[in-house]
Amino acid sequence: MGSMLLAQSQISEQYRNSHNLDARIALHDRFSTNKYDWMRWVFDHMLAAPAASRVLEIGCGTGQLWKNNLDRIPSHWAVTLSDTSAGMIETARANLAATSFAAQVQFWQFDADHLPFDTASFDIVIANHMLYHVPNIDNTLGELRRVLKPGGQLFAATNGPNHMRELDELLVGFDPVLKLQAVTDQFRLDNGAPQLQKHFAQVSLQRYDSNLVVTEPALLLAYVYSVIRAFIIAERWAAFEAYVHAKFVERGGTLFIQKETGLFVAE
Ligand SMILES: C[S@@+](CC[C@H](N)C(=O)[O-])C[C@H]1O[C@@H](n2cnc3c(N)ncnc32)[C@H](O)[C@@H]1O
Repeated sequence: MGSMLLAQSQISEQYRNSHNLDARIALHDRFSTNKYDWMRWVFDHMLAAPAASRVLEIGCGTGQLWKNNLDRIPSHWAVTLSDTSAGMIETARANLAATSFAAQVQFWQFDADHLPFDTASFDIVIANHMLYHVPNIDNTLGELRRVLKPGGQLFAATNGPNHMRELDELLVGFDPVLKLQAVTDQFRLDNGAPQLQKHFAQVSLQRYDSNLVVTEPALLLAYVYSVIRAFIIAERWAAFEAYVHAKFVERGGTLFIQKETGLFVAE
């Protein structure tokens, strides 16, 4: 059977509100071997930007990048957070509402296919873990380049082909149709650079070193449920839960899952 590619309608359904994304973030927060927070690590790379930068994030999700860095967002940055999902925007707005950062940020709902901004508007553009979803990536990269000022920087995080490979194997062991990796194929650590180089003169890749050592089947199941529930009908879910619990027992209560994650910086 073929691998599981998500159709655009399924991507919209997955991100309709933040619950699915929250389940995924919870697994990483809890079981990552690298205790230096991913969102702090990403933000570290942006701190060399001008003190009065205009910043655009597309596919901002729940606004976690900003929530995890509230203590050090330069006070003269003017930030626009955007997403194609109204539910995500609502959660991001709620997450940041009662903070001093709220005065610096505006929220916009639009699709990354066309950016409603003038050419050369931003010093920084961020597209983290989202370029693999856009319907026409070359068009989106062209738009990101267009709205950046000369000398501006694009930050684009994504995963590599081995990201969560052991989880993929676990799922495929239950049913070959449950293959997750295909979701990111369009823009990964191993194929992102040439795509960026079509639009940007300088492209570098920084890798974040971390894996998952999972000790609670329930959180792994919540993660899987958030990604593939549309494909597992109710009566098979119970069988899948039993299968996952048995795997934990078989491996002495611990499941190792490698991560392969990084950040492209393009100028
Ligand atoms: C995996 S989440 C990443 C969220 C956030 N950047 C982060 O790193 O936590 C992908 C996000 O991209 C958004 N998205 C998907 N397709 C999009 C598109 N065509 N235009 C804009 N946003 C999109 C989704 O709604 C979702 O919020």
